[in-house]
Amino acid sequence: MYRVAIMGATGAVGLEFIKILEQRNFPVKSLRLLASSRSAGRQLKFKGEDYTVEELTENSFKDIDIVLASAGGSISAKFAPIAVKSGAVVVDNTSYFRMQPDVPLVVPEVNPRDVEWHKGIIANPNCSTIGMVVVLKPIYDVAGIKRVVVSTYQATAGAGLKAMEELRLQTIDVLAGKEAKPKIFPNQIAFNCIPRIPQSGGIDDSGYTSEELKMINETHKIMGDNKIRVTATTVRVPVFIGHCESVNIETRKKITADEVREVLSKAPLVKVVDDPKNNLYPMATMCAGQDDTYVGRIREDFSIKNGINLWLASDNIRKGAALNAIQIAELLIEKDLVRVP
Ligand code: A2P
Repeated sequence: MYRVAIMGATGAVGLEFIKILEQRNFPVKSLRLLASSRSAGRQLKFKGEDYTVEELTENSFKDIDIVLASAGGSISAKFAPIAVKSGAVVVDNTSYFRMQPDVPLVVPEVNPRDVEWHKGIIANPNCSTIGMVVVLKPIYDVAGIKRVVVSTYQATAGAGLKAMEELRLQTIDVLAGKEAKPKIFPNQIAFNCIPRIPQSGGIDDSGYTSEELKMINETHKIMGDNKIRVTATTVRVPVFIGHCESVNIETRKKITADEVREVLSKAPLVKVVDDPKNNLYPMATMCAGQDDTYVGRIREDFSIKNGINLWLASDNIRKGAALNAIQIAELLIEKDLVRVP
């Protein structure tokens, strides 16, 4: 049994951590819920019992074995090393440590062995990247991958609870004939698509947003192959939960759409839903609340020699964040690696 702390327990991902720890019957000996001073004293339920949220401080990690962190990059930058120094292993959901060479970046269905070289911090990848690599990996293993062109349709939950509330309130305002008032997003999100994620900062001189660069760089690191050419366009859409992605894959060897369906139907945490004639295809509403990444609209790209097009939908708060992080913690337990080397 393990002493677990959640950093950012009151956020969209933090609340999902609590739910999934309970659903998977994670071996929790004790649970400490950490957030900002604004939430200190708030009560949250775990397995029917009330837990009081505490303010995150440098002393929060005494007698903690595992920290699940999702309170933002700057908070992880400061507090993850403090947690490690106190002897805890940190599974970090923010982007802060992901590309650091001494920090494993892990999707258990793709590169589980990378947890073995952790030095106290294991990074959980970007939500859109996770959904994509669980589908790419089985195809990569049978046909190789030369190039990937991905466009995302990302839900507001990825920007936090306040962003979801902004979508809700703007929708009400616009339907009432009032003007939408953007606060978190730079433009109206209700009834709109915004081709800029994240909504502030992070556009480099080449014109790419940091979300797009994450999808490129993290795919290389997780797949362990820098030769895969990846390009991405990431877009926020007026959906609460569930990221969708259009993925074009150029394989090294020829693979037919039927073969892709066959390979993906055996892949862990992937579900093929591909009967468009009967209106069955992956959608945000289908994946929300589910562990699987749904994949469909699988078809050959006739514009190149070895090309496949597909469409996927993945719950960005579950597999894209909290579930993947808890699976990493389960892997650490299975491999007896819940300790700072
Ligand atoms: P709080 O609710 O007290 O602000 P989301 O991604 O949904 O916006 O959630 C972010 C999470 O990170 C929340 O749990 C939030 O707590 C927490 N958080 C934000 N800033 C801090 C901070 N300075 N110290 C600790 N936790 C923070």
